[in-house]
Amino acid sequence: MKKIRKAVFPVAGLGSRFLPATKAQPKEMLPIVDKPLIQYAVEEAVAAGITEMIFITGRNKRAIEDHFDKAYELESELEEAGKQKLLEQVRNVIPKHISCIYIRQSEPLGLGHAVLCARPVIGDEPFAVILADDFMDVSGQTLPVLRQMSDVYEYEGCSLLAVHDVPRANTKQYGIVSAHSYRPQLELVDGIVEKPQPEDAPSTLAVVGRYVLSPKIFEFLEGLGTGAGGEIQLTDGIAALMKAERVLAYRYDGIRYDCGSKIGYLKAMVAMGLKHPETANEFRQYLSDLQQGRNGED
Ligand code: G1P
Repeated sequence: MKKIRKAVFPVAGLGSRFLPATKAQPKEMLPIVDKPLIQYAVEEAVAAGITEMIFITGRNKRAIEDHFDKAYELESELEEAGKQKLLEQVRNVIPKHISCIYIRQSEPLGLGHAVLCARPVIGDEPFAVILADDFMDVSGQTLPVLRQMSDVYEYEGCSLLAVHDVPRANTKQYGIVSAHSYRPQLELVDGIVEKPQPEDAPSTLAVVGRYVLSPKIFEFLEGLGTGAGGEIQLTDGIAALMKAERVLAYRYDGIRYDCGSKIGYLKAMVAMGLKHPETANEFRQYLSDLQQGRNGED
């Protein structure tokens, strides 16, 4: 069976839910404590053994390319100042054996179209898709989510969608699958629909931003018209793929934060602030002060 070596990061979105913060910078560069969302996503891919990172970019996304590139000026200044630890951090944003490929999606036609843009680089291999604004916290208790999925792929050898249960009122924010039990944590998908209203949703099992896909998906994406929200939807491609090949839904271990929304982003920041070695103690104290009605001002 072919190994998963490539991951696609669709990062061309406008980030409109985060304006004005995203007016001149990509939402994927928003930090959780001290690392941008896109770096967490790339680290997750690296941990799953992926070596080729394919970014589907758009206007205003230069910062992502710069982030994964060498920063000569900054590095020489840190070196001169003897700031070794920071220098290492800046140099090790991405391991040396990883290559980054950037493809411009010139029109924001939807997630399905973004994935299709990666076709010339993916060819005939299974690949991963990571949506960086779905931030996954596994905090060392379990393997990173994409690594869990690549382990499942090793023995199942088919497309996988990361899923979790959401409140019925929220189905209209997600791709929702209908599926039946197959193995522990795995369900066989027999239907998938993009952003259904609660009363129309076939279940409450929602797809979150981690996919392992068979290259056959490209054949279906190619012929797709616009779907929900007037966009070319990955979900519609998966609905067609599912009829030709097995697609499994995987109930991952971990906590997912929707960092495309303000509240999800704040929750992720708090969760990680409480775990980061440089902030954990003081931040915990601050939160407890707040709870007791003190304002916690420095
Ligand atoms: C996208 C997908 C949707 C999926 C979601 C996960 O939607 O289209 O199927 O459930 O990501 O975050 P978006 O959040 O980009 O609207």
